[in-house]
Amino acid sequence: MKALVCDSYGPTSILKIKDIKKPIPREKEVLVKIHCSAVNDYDWSMVRGKPNIYRLLFGIFKPKHPIPGMELSGVVEACGVGVTNFTGGDTVYGDISYYGFGSFAEYICINENALVKKPRNMSFEDAAALSHAANLAWQGLVDIGKIGQGMKVLINGAGGGVGSMGLQIAKTFNCTVTGVDTGEKLKMMEEIGFDQIIDYKQQDFTKNGEKYDLILDAKSTRAPKAYIRVLNPGGKYVTVGGELKRILQVVFAQKVRKKPVYLVPLDANKDLDKIQNLYDSGKIKPVIDGPYPLEKTPWAIQYFGEGKHHGKVIVSPLQYG
Ligand SMILES: NC(=O)c1ccc[n+]([C@@H]2O[C@H](COP(=O)([O-])OP(=O)(O)OC[C@H]3O[C@@H](n4cnc5c(N)ncnc54)[C@H](OP(=O)(O)O)[C@@H]3O)[C@@H](O)[C@H]2O)c1
Repeated sequence: MKALVCDSYGPTSILKIKDIKKPIPREKEVLVKIHCSAVNDYDWSMVRGKPNIYRLLFGIFKPKHPIPGMELSGVVEACGVGVTNFTGGDTVYGDISYYGFGSFAEYICINENALVKKPRNMSFEDAAALSHAANLAWQGLVDIGKIGQGMKVLINGAGGGVGSMGLQIAKTFNCTVTGVDTGEKLKMMEEIGFDQIIDYKQQDFTKNGEKYDLILDAKSTRAPKAYIRVLNPGGKYVTVGGELKRILQVVFAQKVRKKPVYLVPLDANKDLDKIQNLYDSGKIKPVIDGPYPLEKTPWAIQYFGEGKHHGKVIVSPLQYG
């Protein structure tokens, strides 16, 4: 089978699609024929081994998981001993990061608990795009942010996967939503329905006099006090990711100084039932960039890393042969 193999850290230009042996499912594993996968921040960090601190997670000298990719949709082709949730032919999707990586390939063997059944009306592209970003956005806005009807919400890093899903989830609560991002994403953000758009290269939303009930951040770059300053009384700041230093400051400010700032610890796939309900009722639809053929995955990871993407970048081993 074909797979993107990353056996040493380096620039995306050294990544190669190789022919490797098709895996055989072990106990509790399913063999999935992958239809779509999505590019994530983890892939951009994993292939380059940067920032260095991530090597504690991905492997000190080289990646522990030689095939990147942490989201997928596809069809179960075979089941290992002890699999109870699926049978051959089931369509599935999920964020597999709790159980490993490896979705930039034609096939994967993965623990059955990494996956859920894909509803028939959900396309393979949408399923791959939803599992990680929509779940993070849900957990940030609903579980931790306690979003309420008609709140004034700001999403920072709004043009990416979490931001575009966060907007649509917030709109189901009739919130007024401001999005912060830059470049070509601003047009897409206007099209998908942000009420107000701020180009972070032109304006600092923490200094323009506006205040919010809830801030969801996909790219924390400031000290917590800057965000707290622009919260209405009772407001919350919730980050899903960003600069490590800022994330550590958020955790300290919450746990030690009892400030209303929070980090989302991802619970992979937990809220996909709610996401599916919103998808079924037409209330959310991921913004798809692609699909691009598996052969273009090194390019797609670079494209993502340079911030040229809109929403979720999808790659597929089925596209274009
Ligand atoms: N909490 C957890 O358990 C967990 C688990 C996995 C991943 N994560 C994190 O979750 C986040 C995923 O977000 P995502 O998939 O939506 O990423 P994404 O698609 O890369 O979107 C982030 C957006 O923020 C923009 N941006 C960059 N710098 C900015 C700035 N200073 N101000 C405002 N916007 C800025 C980016 O623009 P450019 O593309 O132009 O830079 C991009 O459009 C990542 O930070 C990831 O590390 C969290």
